[in-house]
Parts: sequence; C-alpha cells; structure tokens
Amino acid sequence: MNLHGKTIGVALTGSFCTYGKIWGELEKLKEEGAQLIFILSENAASIESRFGTPMDCLNRLQTLTDTPPILTIEAAEPIGPKALLDILVIFPCTGNTAAKLACGITDTPVLMAAKAHLRNERPLLLSLSTNDALGMNMKNIGLLLNTRHIYFVPFGQDDPLKKPNSMTAHTKLLIPSLEAALDEKQYQPVILSHKGGSLCAE
Ligand SMILES: Cc1cc2nc3c(=O)[nH]c(=O)nc-3n(C[C@H](O)[C@H](O)[C@H](O)COP(=O)(O)O)c2cc1C
Repeated sequence: MNLHGKTIGVALTGSFCTYGKIWGELEKLKEEGAQLIFILSENAASIESRFGTPMDCLNRLQTLTDTPPILTIEAAEPIGPKALLDILVIFPCTGNTAAKLACGITDTPVLMAAKAHLRNERPLLLSLSTNDALGMNMKNIGLLLNTRHIYFVPFGQDDPLKKPNSMTAHTKLLIPSLEAALDEKQYQPVILSHKGGSLCAE
C-alpha cells in the first residue's frame, strides 16, 4: 500500500546508538508524502548520551513534521479514541519496550500509543535493536511475532561473535515493511542476516 497521505506514528525509544541510522529513513518517509506524528518514550526524551542530547533529537524531528511530538502518556491516549494513526512504528524499539509490550505494560508514552492504536485493530510495526534478543527477550519477541496486527522490520544478528544475543532491524527496509504491514502482511524474510558491519546495542 502506498504511504502517500497516510498518517504514520513514529515512536522512538532509547536505543540511542541506532539513531544515526533512522534520520535518512524518516526523511524518505516524509518524501513519500506521509504525515508523521512522533512519540518519544520518557527515556528517549530525557537521556543525554554520547550519541546526542534529547534537544538534538527533538530539533531534528521538528524538521520532519509540523505536528508537536507526543511526550506524555496522557497525550498518547487519544490515539485510540480519535483513531489518529493509520499505522504506528516503534523505530527503534528497545528490548525494554518489546518486553513490556509483550506483557501488556503501558507505562510510557510509546507503550500507551501502542495500546491505544492496537485497540483500533490497526497495524503496529516494530524495528528492534537489542542485545538480548536471543537471550532474556527471545520469549517476548516470540510472543510478539505471534500476535495479531504486530509486524517486524526484518531483523538479524548484527555481531554474532562479540554480541551473540544481539539482533537489530534492517532500518533500510522501513518503507517496504510499512507498506506490507498496512496490508496486514509481514514483509519477508522476517529473519534476515546482516552482511558484516557492527552496530552498537547496549
Ligand atoms: C547510550 C545508550 C544506548 C542504548 N542502546 C540500547 C539499544 O540499542 N537497545 C536497547 O534495547 N537498549 C539500549 N539502551 C538501554 C535503554 O535506553 C534502556 O533499557 C531504557 O530503559 C529504555 O527505555 P524505553 O524502552 O522506554 O525507551 C541504551 C542506553 C544507553 C544509555
């Protein structure tokens, strides 16, 4: 399905080392003619790290949309009753957010947005980046893979020797994954190896 004219919620969580890879994809989304509404977890909106400050991130998001970002649980709640989004993508999605989502926990703006959006039986896409994907989080990812209306940007092990449990999404597949998910389909193959290169997942 074409993304032109679609309202896409883009939820950022605290996988700060992935941020360098998201901006180009978000610019492409804007060029496709999608209307973007950003949602940040409290950690994404407050943690200052070697990858940048929250203000850097918010300033950059402002260049991609006229809609103010959603930064609180109460601001995220209307996504349900007002059916604000055609699709929501958690980009990037931490292990923390994936685990909570799988357990039905709703204690951040991103998780509130996900719950509110799923209430409308509309697609939710996850772009994972976590070094415990094949460890503590495997059971949660398995549960999410088997949940209606939830889809994944294809993901794979990014550095099997140094971080054997780490898996990260192929962020460059964001657009085709969104198009497939809007048709309630998983873009395949969902497990896709990374050819060389190493990302940082902490
Ligand atoms: C510099 C830095 C980089 C991080 N990178 C990741 C990451 O790639 N993946 C991940 O799952 N957690 C990462 N974390 C840990 C999360 O930020 C942490 O689990 C946090 O509780 C996530 O909250 P959220 O999911 O609500 O955004 C990182 C933390 C820091 C400080």
